[in-house]
Amino acid sequence: MDLILNNDVVPAINQVEFHPYFQQSKAEEVMREYGVQMEAWSPLGHGGDVLLDEVLADIAGKYGKTVAQIILKWDIQRRIVTIPKSVHSERIDANIDVFDFQLSEDDMKKINALDSGRFIADLRDVELVKRLNELKIR
Ligand SMILES: NC(=O)c1ccc[n+]([C@@H]2O[C@H](COP(=O)([O-])OP(=O)(O)OC[C@H]3O[C@@H](n4cnc5c(N)ncnc54)[C@H](OP(=O)(O)O)[C@@H]3O)[C@@H](O)[C@H]2O)c1
Repeated sequence: MDLILNNDVVPAINQVEFHPYFQQSKAEEVMREYGVQMEAWSPLGHGGDVLLDEVLADIAGKYGKTVAQIILKWDIQRRIVTIPKSVHSERIDANIDVFDFQLSEDDMKKINALDSGRFIADLRDVELVKRLNELKIR
C-alpha cells in the first residue's frame, strides 16, 4: 500500500507468498482494487505438506492430475500469476501441463476452504529479512 500511495507509478505486479494454506485474500482484494497483479511465491508451498493434502489428492484423482497440477490450475483460475520451481525436467514439464482441464466451481471452493493462514516465511522476522537481503544472485 505504501508503494502505491507514495509513488507516481503503481507497481504492475507484487509477488507474495500464496498457496492453498496461505491465500492472502485481503491482500489479493487490495491489489485487484489498485490494478496490481498478484504473483505467487512458493505456489507449491515450497514442496511441503500441501502436496500431501488429502482434499487436494481427492481432487487430483478426479481429474487424473497431480496435486501440484491442481494447485497450479487453481492459481491460474484465481488469476494469480504462478511460477513454480523444480530442478527435475519431468516435473517442469508436468507443472506446465495444466491447460487441458478446468476445475469446477465446487472444487475451486474446496481449495479456497483450505486456507489456514499457515505461512512459510515470516517477513516480520528481522533476522530472516537480513539473511534474505544477504543472498547473492549468481
Ligand atoms: N519474492 C520472494 O521473496 C520469494 C520467496 C520465495 C520464493 N520465491 C519464488 O517463488 C518461486 C518458487 O518458490 P519455492 O521454490 O519456494 O517454492 P515452490 O515452487 O512452491 O516449490 C518448490 C518445491 O516443490 C518441489 N516441486 C516442484 N514441482 C513439483 C511437483 N510437480 N511435484 C512435487 N514437488 C514439486 C520442488 O522440488 P524439486 O526442485 O526437487 O522438483 C521444490 O522443492 C521461485 O520462482 C522463487 O524465486 C520468491
